[in-house]
Amino acid sequence: MARYPDRHSASIPALWAAQLTYGWCSPEAIDQVACVMRITPAYLVAVATFYDMFEQQPVGRQQIYVCTNISCSLCGADELHAAICEAAGEDPDFNVRAFECLGACDIAPMVSVNGDYLGPLQPADAQRLVDDLRAGRTPLPQKWLRNRPYAGAAASAGNGIDREGGPRQSPSAGPERSSEAQGSGAGEGPEQPSAGADSPTEAAREDPDGGGTS
Ligand code: FES
Repeated sequence: MARYPDRHSASIPALWAAQLTYGWCSPEAIDQVACVMRITPAYLVAVATFYDMFEQQPVGRQQIYVCTNISCSLCGADELHAAICEAAGEDPDFNVRAFECLGACDIAPMVSVNGDYLGPLQPADAQRLVDDLRAGRTPLPQKWLRNRPYAGAAASAGNGIDREGGPRQSPSAGPERSSEAQGSGAGEGPEQPSAGADSPTEAAREDPDGGGTS
């Protein structure tokens, strides 16, 4: 709370910590947070009920949020949502929800799985997704947003993003290589203008009167 000028501003991270601990924002958890923060439980309830990611009821441990907002919907999100619901069935370990835009429209249709973004997914991926989560495996690793090269690195390496789910380049040119490219910089991107004495800016700095060298 010391990071915030007003302790009320710490409500969201505090509620999130409580949800991570208890699995949902139970009344007891909210009372506990309110006590520690020295604010009223009513204030925290107002925050928790406003934001969609705070759960008001006990939910399954595996959180799958299927974005069904416009970009994802146009790419088949409703069918994807139905397929994941069917694959999860009545398993109480799963919390499958339709969600508003999760801010990753470029990989539509996409889902958030326990906070990680995957996409684009097809209904045919649903069973594999659920099976992997049940088995404790990383689901569909080639679909993880975090495993994709970031746009700058992809562009400078002459690679694009394969809409069917992953980087076009070979695995050896994955995120690690992208990081290297970012670090080294030299020779990878467009040529930078010279900052030497030949540049007008540098020349003006050396000769503020603009008279040049005599
Ligand atoms: S519409 Fe699905 S992430 Fe934006």
